[in-house]
Amino acid sequence: MKPVVWIAALAAAGALPASAAPIPRAQNFASTDVSSTDVALGAALAKLGDCAVCHTAEGGAPYAGGRPIATPFGQVFATNITPDRGTGIGSYSRAAFERAMRKGLRRDGAELYPAFPYDHFSYATGRDIDALYAFLMTRRPMRAVTPANRLIPPLGFRPVVAVWKALYFRPAPFAATPGKSAQWNRGAYLVASFGHCGGCHTPRNFLGAEQKAKAFDGGYAEGWYAPPLNASTPAATPWTEDRLFTYLRTGLDTNHAAAAGPMGAVTHELARAPQADVRAMAVYLADLMKTAPRSAAVDRATEAAAQHPVGATLYAGACATCHEPGSPMMREGRPPLRLGTPLHEDDARDTIAIVLRGLEPPVGAAGPYMPGYGASFSDAQVAEVVAYLRARFSGRPAWSKLPAAVAAARKETAA
Ligand code: HEC
Ligand code: HEC
Ligand code: HEC
Repeated sequence: MKPVVWIAALAAAGALPASAAPIPRAQNFASTDVSSTDVALGAALAKLGDCAVCHTAEGGAPYAGGRPIATPFGQVFATNITPDRGTGIGSYSRAAFERAMRKGLRRDGAELYPAFPYDHFSYATGRDIDALYAFLMTRRPMRAVTPANRLIPPLGFRPVVAVWKALYFRPAPFAATPGKSAQWNRGAYLVASFGHCGGCHTPRNFLGAEQKAKAFDGGYAEGWYAPPLNASTPAATPWTEDRLFTYLRTGLDTNHAAAAGPMGAVTHELARAPQADVRAMAVYLADLMKTAPRSAAVDRATEAAAQHPVGATLYAGACATCHEPGSPMMREGRPPLRLGTPLHEDDARDTIAIVLRGLEPPVGAAGPYMPGYGASFSDAQVAEVVAYLRARFSGRPAWSKLPAAVAAARKETAA
């Protein structure tokens, strides 16, 4: 049965829990109410939590909202979280803010959609929530009305979120793992809470809830595949603490590929987050990802060209100037294609998306960048070159149904 039908059935059966009470409008916020230490800590947590990534529209003022977040059920617009009293969160008291972050409820008691990752932010400590509140309330208030959501019926009706919460949302304080170091536990806390890494890297069920039993097994986000961050990692060479730290801070590691798609925005924020916090996340993840590589980094140029002659010709004409071993770009220490994780993944969509859309230079680097081929290559040509790369550079089986996957990716990422 379709998820919408399911939810509608529950709603009709009267299974909707009673709605939450509104919290009265707060007095005007006085910046003397908060310490500069709190504001600084809040600024750091906002980077770790990507608040500005979602809450800033293209070309809009930071935190003033208006960016559409794509979900399988339609678009939810991130709201204005500047302290404007009319259109932002200016009338949120500290208690109302904490309830929104932990329980996903608006000040007036309305349900908030889990496109806002409160299922992760609910793990945050009270101290961290105070600091974020202090930071947001001392931003410049911006008047900006958030556009209306575009969700498939009946999901536009906010009370149905209560059904989803009753099924899947179990807010609980973060529990440290005994026997692990303080740094490991700090990393685990940040990954689970503000980092909301599982929001993309954990598979979701048919109603969009993360499957906790499959934490970090790999998931889908905005048309991209977020590969596993545990022992199922497809990476052809092991991820170590140092390599993870460099990747998370710069968006690039010389033994794996550059951070593309939505991961680019995540690393962009982490580049400005406290170094010790990113180090702690690297310590925790390196432990989760400890494994022997499943795929081999190979270079079977002759066999691959025999199997995919069209792809080999396209590669020689369009890609080899940059990617062929020994080319000027490769001599600058860029990751060779045989080491890039996308080519070793179970799913072809990251490689397809990179070829269609190209890549921006990673944070702090002036270039080189990669042009997108969405406009100059047909679906069949993208499929040929992708099949050639997979056969040449990875020890994994060929991807099936590539032309269809390219056509779908074009639609999803509007390339
Ligand atoms: C993945 C995108 C995403 C990220 C990251 C995100 N938010 Fe949001 N947030 C949303 C969306 C979407 C909504 C609106 C949900 C709705 O309308 O039901 C929202 C709503 C909110 C609200 C409710 C405000 C209101 O009255 O509408 C608050 C408060 C908030 N976010 C704070 C934060 C903070 C603080 C952070 C960073 C720690 C953050 N958000 C990170 C997507 C995001
Ligand atoms: C908005 C979705 C999203 C969020 C949130 C997110 N990621 Fe990612 N991540 C991705 C995608 C998509 C890729 C694959 C991109 C590519 O091919 O470059 C990726 C790639 C990665 C990789 C590279 C894996 C490899 O083997 O090459 C690491 C490591 C990683 N993410 C860690 C994290 C951590 C840590 C967090 C939380 C702080 C996080 N991600 C949050 C979407 C996300
Ligand atoms: C102007 C130089 C340039 C050209 C031309 C170019 N790329 Fe790239 N490509 C890059 C850079 C820079 C990166 C990011 C660094 C990295 O991860 O290797 C990249 C990354 C990639 C990646 C992801 C990394 C990985 O190892 O999986 C793939 C796949 C890729 N390119 C395929 C292609 C294909 C196919 C073509 C031709 C159709 C092409 N590129 C043309 C510069 C280029």
